[in-house]
Amino acid sequence: MQLNQHYAELKESYLFSDIAHKVSAYQAAHPEADVIRLGIGDVTLPLAAPVVEALHAAVAEMGVKETFHGYLPTEQGYDFLREAIRDYYAGRGIALDTAEIFISDGAKSDLGNLLDLFDTENTVLVPDPVYPVYVDDNVMAGRHIVYMPANAENGFLPMPPAGGEGALADIVYLCSPNNPTGAVYSREQLKVWVDWARAHDALILFDAAYECFVAEAGKARSIYEVEGAKDCAVEVCSFSKMAGFTGTRCGWTVVPQGIVHEDAETGLRQSLNRMWLRRQTTKFNGVAYIVQRGAAAVFTPEGRAAIEKNLDYYRKNAAVIAAALDEAGVWYCGGKNSPYIWLRCPAGMGSWQFFDWLLDTAHVVGTPGAGFGACGEGYFRLTAFGDAARTAEAAKRLTAALKTL
Ligand code: MLT
Repeated sequence: MQLNQHYAELKESYLFSDIAHKVSAYQAAHPEADVIRLGIGDVTLPLAAPVVEALHAAVAEMGVKETFHGYLPTEQGYDFLREAIRDYYAGRGIALDTAEIFISDGAKSDLGNLLDLFDTENTVLVPDPVYPVYVDDNVMAGRHIVYMPANAENGFLPMPPAGGEGALADIVYLCSPNNPTGAVYSREQLKVWVDWARAHDALILFDAAYECFVAEAGKARSIYEVEGAKDCAVEVCSFSKMAGFTGTRCGWTVVPQGIVHEDAETGLRQSLNRMWLRRQTTKFNGVAYIVQRGAAAVFTPEGRAAIEKNLDYYRKNAAVIAAALDEAGVWYCGGKNSPYIWLRCPAGMGSWQFFDWLLDTAHVVGTPGAGFGACGEGYFRLTAFGDAARTAEAAKRLTAALKTL
């Protein structure tokens, strides 16, 4: 037996597990400290009432012989949910075929699983800082990774590299609104990426998990708002942040039928959509009927209204955090089209140094920017997904602590 030696190249533990351990250790040493967690982007509002009703109804169906559901008619997901997602895109002028939509148990799984379709010799381009999952998935597979710096100069929105290794990349990860920086690509910027990918025979893996937070006109919510994207981009999306499904697990992936690749040497023609269907039917048995019914309720008028109300709650949290940073004169971005606020650590502190200082001084937990990559050093991420009263308290403590510096 030989184990996958690439696991030895991974960081000791996953970023958010690392933070959880650090906070538990702090809490054990300081049992009196009232710690507020604004680290991992986990939602705090419960599922919306129309979703819960749909879940209940589906549970009841499963208990009756005539309406019981066993294996899914297709691992790709029930028609009722894929049609609802197709209509969600159609409402924004994007035409998708339901055959292009695959229901998943969340964006994180598919972002890793999709890599099964690509040769391990492919070079992968990822922004830095980045959601650590993109990097870890590729390290596990032994793929070569090239980083493109995202910084204050490029508005944390890197554009296609003009030269070097990055210009030869085969797979590119883009996340917009971005985790962790909150930056959002405009349609024009994404058009540049799409043109680049088509010209370079590259594939864009577009993570749209936070699209529901986009409020500004001109900012893209889907890469398919850009002409030509259906020839070169796969989009991964999720009900987690949109509808509070972090614990319920449901998402979707769009694999356009137009992505067909012909190997220059062998002449073998392969359709990405067919390959993904083949992969899913072999390795995945689909998402529970009950969960898919709950997810479909998100797209009903009542569901949409309830979800918007929840999103507004988080948007207000972001505004509260932003106001605290404004008052303290700390530079930040994000928070407007995104649930994440990305701030520059004050007084020249490093990311982990600021993490420890903030935990000790204000008992507030955030995520050190360095945990997202070398270019994140000196930055820090706060999430707007907390409870409103606790977020207001954290903001108060944050301003008071920052004023002591
Ligand atoms: C985050 O905090 O970056 C996200 O919650 C992680 C995730 O969605 O997996």
